[in-house]
Amino acid sequence: MLNKETKIFIAGHRGMVGGAIKRNLEEKGYSNLLVRTSSELDLRNQAAVTAFFEEEKPEVVIDAAARVGGILANNNFPYQFLMENMQIQNNLIDASLKTDVQKFIFLGSSCIYPKFAPQPLKEEYLLTDTLEPTNEWYAIAKITGVKACEAIRKQFDKDYVSLMPTNLYGTYDNFDLQTSHVLPAMMRKFHEAKENGHVPVTLWGSGTPMREFLFVDDLAEAVVFALNNVLPDYLYNVGTGVDLRIKELAEVIQKAVGHEGEIIWDSSKPDGTPRKLMDISKMHALGWSHKVALKEGIEKTYAWFLENQQNYKEVKL
Ligand SMILES: NC(=O)c1ccc[n+]([C@@H]2O[C@H](COP(=O)([O-])OP(=O)(O)OC[C@H]3O[C@@H](n4cnc5c(N)ncnc54)[C@H](OP(=O)(O)O)[C@@H]3O)[C@@H](O)[C@H]2O)c1
Repeated sequence: MLNKETKIFIAGHRGMVGGAIKRNLEEKGYSNLLVRTSSELDLRNQAAVTAFFEEEKPEVVIDAAARVGGILANNNFPYQFLMENMQIQNNLIDASLKTDVQKFIFLGSSCIYPKFAPQPLKEEYLLTDTLEPTNEWYAIAKITGVKACEAIRKQFDKDYVSLMPTNLYGTYDNFDLQTSHVLPAMMRKFHEAKENGHVPVTLWGSGTPMREFLFVDDLAEAVVFALNNVLPDYLYNVGTGVDLRIKELAEVIQKAVGHEGEIIWDSSKPDGTPRKLMDISKMHALGWSHKVALKEGIEKTYAWFLENQQNYKEVKL
């Protein structure tokens, strides 16, 4: 079992997710955390990753490194979203297996499930139908990671487990409008519109799709929960179990930001999947559930954005 001296490699520790996991582990007193930036160790480079694992011999690995982005970035860079994500995770998973890492946590996302799967999304719906085309490159890469960990569990009886978080948001989120997800993109748009005298804000799509959002610190708690417990299955959803319309989300953010202008919905832009709600009963049954409500999480995120907006691109943990 894990103890406070267990050597834990957090891949992607400067990202929103990896950073939240690192902070959580540090706060709990884990003192043997191993981290590398992408310039110190490019996880796409198999030889470099193998050498790093042979030298450092981590006991536990958390894979929070990935090339991530919204609809625009996925559309523009399909090859990178497919190939770089497979390279990163394959190198980490294979090096972990070969250096006898006992516990591996693979992070994916809810986009691995079919576009029109019944709602809420159960883990068993994986690979039962076609994916949402706007992010299928990323989703296919992530599915191969889930399957690689499942294969290792079956063949080598090791505790390699995949956690699929719903949409995440929080401190250290990406507020770059070219590559960001819906929640931070809206927050930035409302903020800038407020600064410009409460001018109208134009948002993508019809506003009718339903989405679920989890504060990133809650995901970090789920990862630490998975580290401290042997999860009996290979795949678990992590979310709140509650969703809302994008229009309602916009109103919550608008209020938190204090924007008083009009919202214009640009229906010529794609909506993506009509609804994406995770079934989180498997994690609930094991004893994990989220703690931060959406309004509170959005207020915390906006407070962080206000403090860091001048240099949010440079802010690194
Ligand atoms: N954000 C979400 O809404 C969300 C939702 C569900 C699931 N997830 C999952 O959570 C994981 C992390 O997402 P995130 O939002 O934290 O992403 P992020 O903020 O973009 O961070 C990604 C991290 O990956 C590292 N990385 C990327 N390419 C690398 C490479 N070639 N070599 C080494 N490191 C590399 C980066 O390291 P450097 O900073 O050192 O360059 C960065 O710290 C992903 O697997 C994603 O699927 C995220």
